[in-house]
Amino acid sequence: MSVSKLKKTYQCAECDAKVAQWAGQCGACGAWNTLREVGMVARGATGGRGARGYAGESRIQLLREVGQDVELRIASGFEELDRVLGGGIVAGSVILLGGDPGIGKSTLLLQMLIRLQGHQRMVYVTGEESLQQVRMRAQRLGEADAALGVVAETEVESILALLESDPPALLVIDSIQTLYSRELSSAPGAAAQLRECGALLVRFAKQRNVAIFLVGHVTKEGVIAGPRVLEHMVDTVLYFESDPAGRLRMIRAAKNRFGAVNEIGFFSMANSGLKEVRNPSAMFLARSAQAAPGSVVLVTREGTRSVLVEVQALVDRGGGGAPRRVTVGLESNRLAMLLAVLHRHADLSLLDQDVFLNVVGGLQVRETAADLAALLAAVSSFRNRALPSELAVFGEVGLSGELRPVSGGEERIAEAAKQGFQRIILPQANAPRKKIGGCEVLAVASLAEAIELSD
Ligand code: TYD
Ligand code: MG
Repeated sequence: MSVSKLKKTYQCAECDAKVAQWAGQCGACGAWNTLREVGMVARGATGGRGARGYAGESRIQLLREVGQDVELRIASGFEELDRVLGGGIVAGSVILLGGDPGIGKSTLLLQMLIRLQGHQRMVYVTGEESLQQVRMRAQRLGEADAALGVVAETEVESILALLESDPPALLVIDSIQTLYSRELSSAPGAAAQLRECGALLVRFAKQRNVAIFLVGHVTKEGVIAGPRVLEHMVDTVLYFESDPAGRLRMIRAAKNRFGAVNEIGFFSMANSGLKEVRNPSAMFLARSAQAAPGSVVLVTREGTRSVLVEVQALVDRGGGGAPRRVTVGLESNRLAMLLAVLHRHADLSLLDQDVFLNVVGGLQVRETAADLAALLAAVSSFRNRALPSELAVFGEVGLSGELRPVSGGEERIAEAAKQGFQRIILPQANAPRKKIGGCEVLAVASLAEAIELSD
């Protein structure tokens, strides 16, 4: 076989597209001069076989001889953030914080560093704003003179060189999209740059035991801009989001090597920075005292915490054609199934009706404990009869019309009682053995029974 028959492939440094033919411009992303022969790129942390991993020295040990480090955690100064992280910041871990522009990422992290001053060695690297802008924000947060290392730098090698001799315990990079490595020719924010900078920072974090927060921009689709591999590299991926009304800010984990991913931290943006919301139920239930038809209060669980939210339904005669099932904050496939159960086992047909469901406040309820609330709200709207205002509900609805138990029953009842609800409809199997708070428990076995009781 002659040499000329050997197949060569080229890969774009921007978008990773592979092509058989070299060209000046990448056909996939349109970048110029980015195609390189695969196997020829051996520089940098991600390129080439010579690249070292970052999880520690290479030496084979017996598993039982591996030292059991106690996971060292740093309290962030925000209980809400600690909760989402699984109990604080793990030393040497890398946390990617994504969110829309203006949501408060820089504010949150600066506030965190300010709260920790004097306790930890910390450095804030700004690639997005000038040092003066950072100082102005600190002033707004009431701490213009915070004892906090700041540097405006975007070359990752320079940043690491600055930190090498005396690494901090905590490092904030704002943002990863502004960083670049001098080893690569592509622009900051390009896939190859994000991967290279991410890999260098992750390796630094593990080798020097530095916890690093990386701020990441999100695309219009709501995911962190750049290659998915960035999310794979880091230990934790957090998303900072807001409710449609913009009052409430929520942080949730999309990935966490050191904790559960279903916890949510609640904040609100005030004039002098973010405030923690300790009682999210009160925020979600800011509704008029007079209950309207179609409105039901659901006790849902977000991680280890119970939260009360209002589920609203609007049921209306469809304007011909297929009836519409539209949900915001709930699963729409599940709604179709629940309406079929309602028809079959409670003898109420909404099958020719448009059904709209909304969870007020922008929370995404993913648990089946919302089934009962969704159906009671729909029935209430259909009959145009309001439910008692002091009533809360939870429970899963099964395909044979039975009410199935859900986890955290007692905690849910306790939260409803704490928020002043006097009655609660729940599945029989969730009925507590003894009374909880001042809440009357109406334990029912079936959907039909629950509809009768709520009427
Ligand atoms: P910022 O933290 O810069 O958001 P991000 O880094 O995610 O882009 O901005 C937060 C927004 O909140 C900005 O529009 C200004 C506002 N803000 C307040 O309302 N109060 C404050 O104390 C601060 C610092 C900002
Ligand atoms: Mg910012």
